[in-house]
Amino acid sequence: MTASPTAERPSLRSQRLNQITNEPHTKLDALVKAHAPFETQANFARFVVAQYLFQSELVALYNDAELIKIIPDLAERCRADAAKLDLGDLETDVPAPVAGALENPSTAQALGWLFVSEGSKLGAAFLIKRAVGLGLSETFGARHLGEPAGGRAEGWKRFTRTLDGLEFTAEEEADVEKGAIDAFVRFTVLLEQAYASAPELA
Ligand code: HEM
Repeated sequence: MTASPTAERPSLRSQRLNQITNEPHTKLDALVKAHAPFETQANFARFVVAQYLFQSELVALYNDAELIKIIPDLAERCRADAAKLDLGDLETDVPAPVAGALENPSTAQALGWLFVSEGSKLGAAFLIKRAVGLGLSETFGARHLGEPAGGRAEGWKRFTRTLDGLEFTAEEEADVEKGAIDAFVRFTVLLEQAYASAPELA
């Protein structure tokens, strides 16, 4: 029996994570678009609600002392404050927390979640261009999609280089993958919640 090339496991951890999250990413991308976030500012505001909820659940990870030892600029990478300011710009209330947030992950699991959060900054390069069409920018309403200090590609490369350089046990390897998958599941839940809770769009 011959394995198809797509079934091969890439040697780099970040590439393996890319591979296993490819399907959830494609589905989430379609789900985001199904909610037509760039049709109106009101639609976009619901997307920002989801982004804010996701980012606010990760604040503890971005500020975790152990994780900062691994990724020194981690705290500056957090976008919860930017998303909160965006909500203000869009005259949208800060949402109440949604039950089921991540709790006490292992380091490897946490890194899987951070992989997804950091990776989402790549897609944000496309999203912000669309947000401009709604009169928004990286200084108003779409701050959380803005170019990170030092550049998007560079920030991502530094993150994945560090992640790829860590020695993991088999258990940690499974944990990082679980973290990445769980993060996509969670974003999906939060996105649905954000649009379902929009009074004017329900
Ligand atoms: C919460 C997590 C994520 C969300 C909500 C998200 C959302 C999106 C959306 C909606 C697009 C489409 C943009 C467009 O076509 O206008 C996109 C594209 C993209 N995303 Fe994500 N994404 C997430 C995570 C990730 C991760 C983990 C990575 C990398 C590992 C990533 C890399 C990319 C790249 C490179 C694109 C550009 C087009 C493509 O190759 O599909 N994203 N993302």
